[in-house]
Amino acid sequence: MASKYSFEGLRVTAFESRRSKEIDRLIRYHGGVPSVAPSMREVPLSEAGEALTFAEKLLKGGYDLVILMTGVGTRALKDTVSAKYPVDQFIDALKNVTLVARGPKPAAALKELGLKPDIIVPEPNTWRDILATLDGSFDLKGKKVAVQEYGISNTEFIDTLKQRGADVTTVPIYKWELPKDVGPLKDAIRSIAENEEDVSLFTSSQQIYHLFQIAKAEGLEDKLREGFKRVVIGSIGPTTTETLGRFGLSTDYEPDSPKMGNLIREMARSGGELLRKKRTALENGVNTNSWHKIDMVWDKTLETRREEITRDSVFMKACRREKTDYAPVWIMRQAGRYMREYRELRAKVSFLDLCKTPELAAEVTLAAVDRLSVDAAIIFSDILLILQSFGIGLEFSKGEGPRIRKPVRTGKAVERLEEFDPGSLNFVYEALRITRRALDPEIALIGFAGAPFTVASYAIEGGGSKNYENTKGFMYKDPQGWHGFMDRLSAATTMYLNNQISAGADAIQIFDSWAGSLAPDDYREFVLPHMKELIGGIKEGVPVIHFGTGTDALLGLIKESGCSVMGLDWRVDLGEAWERVGYDMAVQGNMDPVALFAPHSEIRKRAKSVLDKAKGRPGHIFNLGHGVLPKTPVDNVLALVDFVHEYSDKNRNK
Ligand code: CP3
Repeated sequence: MASKYSFEGLRVTAFESRRSKEIDRLIRYHGGVPSVAPSMREVPLSEAGEALTFAEKLLKGGYDLVILMTGVGTRALKDTVSAKYPVDQFIDALKNVTLVARGPKPAAALKELGLKPDIIVPEPNTWRDILATLDGSFDLKGKKVAVQEYGISNTEFIDTLKQRGADVTTVPIYKWELPKDVGPLKDAIRSIAENEEDVSLFTSSQQIYHLFQIAKAEGLEDKLREGFKRVVIGSIGPTTTETLGRFGLSTDYEPDSPKMGNLIREMARSGGELLRKKRTALENGVNTNSWHKIDMVWDKTLETRREEITRDSVFMKACRREKTDYAPVWIMRQAGRYMREYRELRAKVSFLDLCKTPELAAEVTLAAVDRLSVDAAIIFSDILLILQSFGIGLEFSKGEGPRIRKPVRTGKAVERLEEFDPGSLNFVYEALRITRRALDPEIALIGFAGAPFTVASYAIEGGGSKNYENTKGFMYKDPQGWHGFMDRLSAATTMYLNNQISAGADAIQIFDSWAGSLAPDDYREFVLPHMKELIGGIKEGVPVIHFGTGTDALLGLIKESGCSVMGLDWRVDLGEAWERVGYDMAVQGNMDPVALFAPHSEIRKRAKSVLDKAKGRPGHIFNLGHGVLPKTPVDNVLALVDFVHEYSDKNRNK
């Protein structure tokens, strides 16, 4: 059986050694043309000295903590030690220390010895993950720590352990040497330098050291690096990516889970697209040895036609209810915590700083599109930032969500708010400009804002709410003050959205996430006039998507607001709701976000059900019924996007 994901004949080079046959087979299975150049050979240290010194000290109770880095190393350590000491003594001694396994492989090797690690480090099992895990559970100060090593000693890791006050012994078990026959490695260097490869796969850091060692010896180091400008680089995990960076190469793709199978499968899925992008960028003057997604330059001859191309994209056509070859799909919150790239960035910058640094916000926006192959990008930002422009203090505290220190609860408080200055949100417009420039013209860029009701609910409650007592209390007690607040928010939002459009947003989404908490009569009286005002002021011809949850009873009223696309949450039947709002509107939605925790077969079944309800009518944009949840496996999102594309493509009358 051929795989669903295919390299479609791309030439794929890999440097795996121990599993070279397997990687060759996997590349072939995924439709690639492999050339595997084994780049290393494991050599047991002829001097088992360090292992034996470690064993002696261990048997005397000389360690508090032992960190086992690899499965192969753990087994080799046991073999070496048991040549001199009874294996039971060794095992008993290990029972008396805190045992750390860097991941499932050393844990499995320990299990063979009847040992259970006290700590198993979670994926992606880098030294930083080891530290993070230890920092949460083990005070290293004054502790005697042994680290089983492999390959080159990781001095950064060892130094950090020492900085924490640990007394560290390193126990090298294996080291890596060049393979006996470096011919294949030389051939690989030559073919990369001479543009005979499309994709390269690195499954360990050591492969990079050896590749460049040989290239240097051959005087081909610069040619090799130059060649990589035209080759997509896949890396198994963060350490390998870091090493590539040290050699002046950016990684084009890294899977979330550091497994060879994942790397190959996911590269087969997106390798062709990444290659097209990388070569286009290079042709347009980008240095693709070291680049970010925001550096992308599309064909300059297309630039003048950019708007036209986007206007004819699948997403934009669907907004206008024109026929498309397949159903466009994007995912609310597609750039968020469920994505590793996002979490890595958030480990370094706060959420607000991320929103306010246009280059970073744009990078995150583009990363989601590249990763998922969706039909639209949504600018990375937040609906609550606009509150700061009124002088309302906003914070995002870890695990708690948004906090407003001084809630706005009276007409007087509204009067005291600062005058809205649309320039205070320049960072959003700049992020849109950067994103639009780097984004594929075929992909639409969505700008967004919160609707006055939902934004006001945060300002009034001081954060999220269940019953909206203060919000509705304000509305009922002081209708005039309420309408004053809504007027100011809707006028500001219109300006804000029009500026986003000028900066490159092709369509707009308005989030009235919590409007569903209102009775229809209250929506009609307290919200609808402001929505009409807001949407009426948006630049002609730009699609406006309205999104809310729990809006089943409000759909007719929401339609009166003048929006062009109705966002539906998962609690309504899409077929029935569309019939009710009328086929003169486009609809967006509406799979339950929690369905993404189901097995792939179930996800496909549920996506099919949504698509079948839309009956292939022009004007359906596939999405979830609310934002993707932080613990959602990315792989499931990929499966969803691919299914929506394939199934709707097959089932349309064209
Ligand atoms: O869709 C996208 O990828 C664009 C980015 C986006 C974010 N927030 C980023 C974000 C969008 C469109 C929003 C809209 C938003 N923000 C809404 C309406 C949509 C919805 O989900 O109903 C609301 C109600 C907010 C307010 C908000 N922002 C809350 C309640 C929270 C905390 C809850 C949470 O999910 O953490 C945020 C923070 C927020 N906004 C995060 C992201 C990625 C998480 C911040 C982090 O910890 O990294």
